[in-house]
Amino acid sequence: MKTEGVTVVDHPLLVHSLTILRKKETGTEEFRRHAGIVSKMLILEATKQLTLEDEHIETPLAPFEGKRLADDVVVVPVLRAGLAMLFALQDFLPSVRVGFVGLERDEETAIAREYYQKLPKIFASHKVLVIDPMLATGGSFDDTLNLLKAKGAKHMVVICIVAAPEGIERVRKHHPEVPIITAAVDEKLNDKAYIVPGLGDFGDRYFGTEL
Ligand code: PRP
Ligand code: URA
Repeated sequence: MKTEGVTVVDHPLLVHSLTILRKKETGTEEFRRHAGIVSKMLILEATKQLTLEDEHIETPLAPFEGKRLADDVVVVPVLRAGLAMLFALQDFLPSVRVGFVGLERDEETAIAREYYQKLPKIFASHKVLVIDPMLATGGSFDDTLNLLKAKGAKHMVVICIVAAPEGIERVRKHHPEVPIITAAVDEKLNDKAYIVPGLGDFGDRYFGTEL
């Protein structure tokens, strides 16, 4: 599927790790490890346009004209599954500002309900990374992007691990200026609004809360 504004990262190491995430036999420990690998590769793609500025430093041997990140980055994980991707991002940017949005889908209707929100001040210049592994109906990302726009965000990027065509369509329709970075665009949603073939319930598998 080739859709404007959607980048599917298909690096062989990512595809390998994503297959491990999809396997039903994969246990919590392996799931966490490979979720971290996939998240890092997606983050690299989503942040490749960040700007740098000059920084003069001294190495132990000589002066050096280096670079440091010039952009102010804010990351917003959608609780709870978005935390899996936050941990990966913090390895790159240990002092990144973090805002939280807690959303939980109703099991019957698949409509997301907000139960928590704690955001830093967001300025138009901030580069806001919105992270949640699963883009299913798109309700969670749609609500989160609306909320962040209302708080002043102007530059946002969505990063997810698996996306359904239905969710992509919703997010692209309501937020056409927001790029989507994903590791896969799957076939469809099932009658419970789970992604097929997908990988099951990401939060339950990552946090070990499956029955
Ligand atoms: C899952 C997932 C997304 C959402 C995607 O969260 O982590 O947030 O569903 O579905 P949508 O695109 O249809 O909104 P869930 O509600 O299961 O909560 P959890 O992260 O706490 O497990
Ligand atoms: N949330 C998940 O964790 N998995 C899906 O397939 C859909 C929503």
